Amino acid sequence: MLLAPNLLDQVNSEMVLSKPSALVALVSLSITNSLAWNHDDYLHSPTADEIPHPSADGRGWEEAFGLASDFVSELTLGEKVLMVSGVHGPCVGNIAPIPRLNFTGLCIQNGPLGLEQGSYSSVFPAGVSIAASWDKDVAYERGSQMAAEFKAKGAHVLLGPVAGPLGRSPLGGRNFEGFSPDPYLTGELFTQTIEGIQDGGVQACAKHFIGNEQETQRQPSENEDGTKIDSVSSNIDDRTMHELYLWPFQQAVRAGVGSVMCSYNRLNQTYGCQNSKALNGILKIDFGFQGYVMSDWGATHSGVTAVNSGEDMDMPGTPDYPLFFHQNLTNAVNNGSVSSDRLDDMLRRVMAPYFHLKQDQDFPPIDPSMKELNSVLFSTPDEYEGQFNYTFGAEPNIDVRGNHGASIRRSAAEATVLLKNKHGALPLKDPKRVAVFGNDAGDFTNGMSVWWFNGVGNYEYGVMATGGGSGSGLFSYAVSPLDAIKLRVGYTKDALVQYVLNNTAILEEDSPYLKALVPWSSDVCLVFLKSWATESEDRTTLASDWNGDEVVEKIASTCANTVVVLHSAGVNTMPWADHPNVTAILAAHLPGQEAGNSIVDVLWGDVNPSGRLPYTIAKNEWDYDFAPITNSTELLKTNDPTAWQSDFKEGALIDYRHFNHYNKSVQYEFGYGLSYTTFNMSRKLTITPLSTNGTISPFPPSAPIAPGGNPSLWDTLYEIQATVQNTGEVAGAAVPQLYLTLPPHENQGEYVEATNILRGFEKVRLDPGGSKTVTFALNRRDLSHWDVINQEWTIPQGEVKASVGFSSRDLRARGTFTVIP
Ligand code: NOJ
Repeated sequence: MLLAPNLLDQVNSEMVLSKPSALVALVSLSITNSLAWNHDDYLHSPTADEIPHPSADGRGWEEAFGLASDFVSELTLGEKVLMVSGVHGPCVGNIAPIPRLNFTGLCIQNGPLGLEQGSYSSVFPAGVSIAASWDKDVAYERGSQMAAEFKAKGAHVLLGPVAGPLGRSPLGGRNFEGFSPDPYLTGELFTQTIEGIQDGGVQACAKHFIGNEQETQRQPSENEDGTKIDSVSSNIDDRTMHELYLWPFQQAVRAGVGSVMCSYNRLNQTYGCQNSKALNGILKIDFGFQGYVMSDWGATHSGVTAVNSGEDMDMPGTPDYPLFFHQNLTNAVNNGSVSSDRLDDMLRRVMAPYFHLKQDQDFPPIDPSMKELNSVLFSTPDEYEGQFNYTFGAEPNIDVRGNHGASIRRSAAEATVLLKNKHGALPLKDPKRVAVFGNDAGDFTNGMSVWWFNGVGNYEYGVMATGGGSGSGLFSYAVSPLDAIKLRVGYTKDALVQYVLNNTAILEEDSPYLKALVPWSSDVCLVFLKSWATESEDRTTLASDWNGDEVVEKIASTCANTVVVLHSAGVNTMPWADHPNVTAILAAHLPGQEAGNSIVDVLWGDVNPSGRLPYTIAKNEWDYDFAPITNSTELLKTNDPTAWQSDFKEGALIDYRHFNHYNKSVQYEFGYGLSYTTFNMSRKLTITPLSTNGTISPFPPSAPIAPGGNPSLWDTLYEIQATVQNTGEVAGAAVPQLYLTLPPHENQGEYVEATNILRGFEKVRLDPGGSKTVTFALNRRDLSHWDVINQEWTIPQGEVKASVGFSSRDLRARGTFTVIP
């Protein structure tokens, strides 16, 4: 057992006092073991009585906070309430304008890979593709280009990026919107994306906070007799919570993210948007978050409780959802159940990022095309025209794409993961006879939108360039693989591109469609597979859609040079991976609008792929059963309102941590990916302590909390260097990865610690023969465990094992060091 109730009496009071949320707890009530989520007692979340709401003081945004305070002092109660309660309008979320104060309102738009509802805007690679790039610069660049498009269309807030789901189960329907089940990889790319977005003058909204790891029963349902059945509860112990699921969000707060979206699910029994421990305690007190918590659409389940537990803005706030804010909030302030101080705090939190990003200065008006586009899913103009004075630009449909298509093409190509390349099958050697198979190879057949739960991606035919739901985009154009292949092969003498895009036709017994092709003498057979995923439902299989596995087997049974390309929302099992005729495999994920060009650049060798797997590809689907999606026929029929429980019993052991801990073989491991060149790494690591005074304390020195928590968590304590060399014939990029095994935590209890966890990575571009020394900086948090008793990060005593390699199972250089002897 990790923490018995009476052990809390023994908590080191000095440590507790250095932690504001614990401080609030100590001052306001006697300690109970419900204050922390402990391994044995996480089925309860402390309430707002136990962890009252902290007011923001603008730390880090002092000037903007002053402006926000002045602004708030001008508002009437009615205006104040309106500024935290969404209304109908031209955007997905709308905060009404207040013309008398020259405030034009807030236009809030989806989503994480571009404007979900944008004309003449770009569809960027999805989060999973950025994760596969392992490239912080690519993450930043995508963020800043998306911001440029959002701003030019008049959108103040971009609903993204996503770090929840983290990707506990590979079946999670929205994993593709986020990055990787590894919190470190996600943390770095999440943060870079936020910085890119906000440096471009647009507020990011880090979502979904927290534990939103499945789509099934994400919202409450009603059974036949009308009983309300609650959303699934993600039950996560305190240590796993900090070391995995909160990890990227803590960094996001440090990066100054403007808003955080609270999630649909319950967390340790309490809804995400009224979870005082998560919102007041962790996010606002421990992490020092100064911005605002916006509800997911319809995730608010109370008024007073939600507000006092930390929710600052209700979305969408329109009458088609239960209305807990608006007049109800006015009443609550009037009768004192929500204090006027709290309401003012909500307002200052909303306005501080607005002023900090200078959105009060010359922010472009809303593109009038939004009215039309938004009416498909949210508000129609007659619901707001004449009521709210939105500012629209003169011309609809302004083209905001700039030259973003070029970086989309390049980054998606580079992010492609080369999983197999037998006898140098790739890059192709200028083949004249090319056969193309599979329903992912062709163009869209059902329009350009992946709006909501259906759309181009989910149809039988057409390239899977993105996933579905609010994390999709409206394509202004899309390049299919087949189009790009035809162009690349050209229409010259002897050139032959033949294709069958109908999987059913391919799989017909004795298929006449295949027989009619010349290419049984073809130079290469390119098979394109796809796997769809979308918001609102979880994947039901990790096999490729539309019988993709059978298609590969069938083509490979006769074609000796079968190259398989997967456009997929994430993990796919590949039972054919070791087939001798499958000569190459490329995981191209969800590349966005330039899908065809990007993959042709890789196939023909114009771009040397440098993607690495951001997750593990196991041998079998059931190998992932340790972290299942909660679902069953009993649950679907239940009468018990709280029946939906998802116990994260595996703790920290998700993805590669699980496979390594149990020493299981996998098809392709986390961090793996080949290149058209080869790399080597020096065996020796240089490990340098940076501490100036020689001694490092296990706990961070007590200090005022800044955004991101105790500032010393981010002090670089050690640097590790390794040298990488390109030993091949062509230029390429290596991704050296640093993995650490920390000594066990003295308060470990039954918690199973993972070994060889990612704590550094860099993308290194090298010419043939070139070499580079890479430096990994390790900060205090990187070297710490989360201590549930002391509620603090702590560096364990003993030897740290460091390994640097080219994947989680290809470790080339090793060393050890001791931080705390
Ligand atoms: C629900 C989704 O969970 C969220 O991510 C999105 O931003 C909102 N809907 C608005 O579409």
